[in-house]
Amino acid sequence: MFKPASRLDGIAEYYFAGKLREIAQLRQNGHPVLNLGIGSPDLPPAPPVIEALQTAAAHPAAHAYQPYSGIAELRQAWADWYQRWYGVRLNPQTEALPLIGSKEGIVHVAMSFLEPGDIALCPNPGYPTYRAATLLAGAEVQHYHLAAATQWLPDLPALEKTDLRRVKIMWVNYPHMPTGARANPDFFQQLVDFGRRHHILIVNDNPYSFILNEQPISILRAEGAFETALELNSLSKSHNLAGWRVGLVAGHAEHLQAILRFKSNMDSGQFQPVQLAAARALQLPEAWYQGLNDTYRERQGHAFALLKTLGCRFDEQQQGMFVWAEIPKGFRDGYDLSDRLLYEQDLFLTPGGIFGSAGDAYIRVSLCSPSAVLAEAQQRAQAFVAAAPAVSLPMANAL
Ligand SMILES: Cc1ncc(COP(=O)(O)O)c(C=O)c1O
Repeated sequence: MFKPASRLDGIAEYYFAGKLREIAQLRQNGHPVLNLGIGSPDLPPAPPVIEALQTAAAHPAAHAYQPYSGIAELRQAWADWYQRWYGVRLNPQTEALPLIGSKEGIVHVAMSFLEPGDIALCPNPGYPTYRAATLLAGAEVQHYHLAAATQWLPDLPALEKTDLRRVKIMWVNYPHMPTGARANPDFFQQLVDFGRRHHILIVNDNPYSFILNEQPISILRAEGAFETALELNSLSKSHNLAGWRVGLVAGHAEHLQAILRFKSNMDSGQFQPVQLAAARALQLPEAWYQGLNDTYRERQGHAFALLKTLGCRFDEQQQGMFVWAEIPKGFRDGYDLSDRLLYEQDLFLTPGGIFGSAGDAYIRVSLCSPSAVLAEAQQRAQAFVAAAPAVSLPMANAL
């Protein structure tokens, strides 16, 4: 057997890969597990988007390699979308680079800008890929703590008191996963100013800005943002296209050129019908987002009820496609509660600790299941509490 490269040291298989195997095994053994873990949209894309895919796929010329920097129609559609929804002007030729999912963009940005000796600031709790991508690029991870008491926003004055000389990238992600916290334009301006003062590339990962959020914002709207910030975006959640792998990195042309140098050695473009249909998705009217959010709002109500049944505390204003909640006393941590729900009631909720130690006392519920499933999950939570009265601690109010 060959020893894997040392760049894989400290990089474990993604938590969900193992958990999904375990859930599949439990189901095979006859356990009707309800999986409220992963955030993969269960709703279909808009019909015109499917039609655009089908029409384009029937064209004999659709099947060749495509440009590394995406087709012109898609770059233009992203630029129009940024202008329309965020008030940000992007040059479609140079400031909008389509990606095969924003997750690959995280790795591309890390590989294009980080090297041994550099540090990247990663949120705790946060999306685990920021850490993994940083390590894969040979750089060091320094976590910054987020907490409910400060609305899960980084404490920039405290960071400024630390030695930032080796910090090259700061990963941020608002609306934030897993906490559902939001930033506002003032905070994005503070982040951009911080990046400019310390020569740090601020990378905002923005895939949740249309979910349970009336006012989508972009860090690129802040003054001076193009000098120091990049933004990743995605159609996975906003347009129910997770499996299609459609993302974007937007920012300064020179930064995007560097990413393209890396990316053009990784892939050979994206299937043209996917790109044309993605361009169609970006043109959908406001009613699309409203319909999506009506569904998520209804589901969120069920998730709140489930979490109240368990005695969890949570913020009712959170955004994105999850509900993040503090677990009641009586459990060691979120893993403990998650395991007990899984093994005693066939209900899987994500333990907050997988997003970092600051999430240990939390649990996350995905809204990617129909209301009926969430209602059934609440019944199982009731049965769980009834069987273990110690957990029916004072019914917590929403934070
Ligand atoms: C914070 C965050 N960033 C990026 C992604 C990846 O999105 P995409 O499907 O565009 O790769 C996810 C997906 O779960 C996410 O939660």
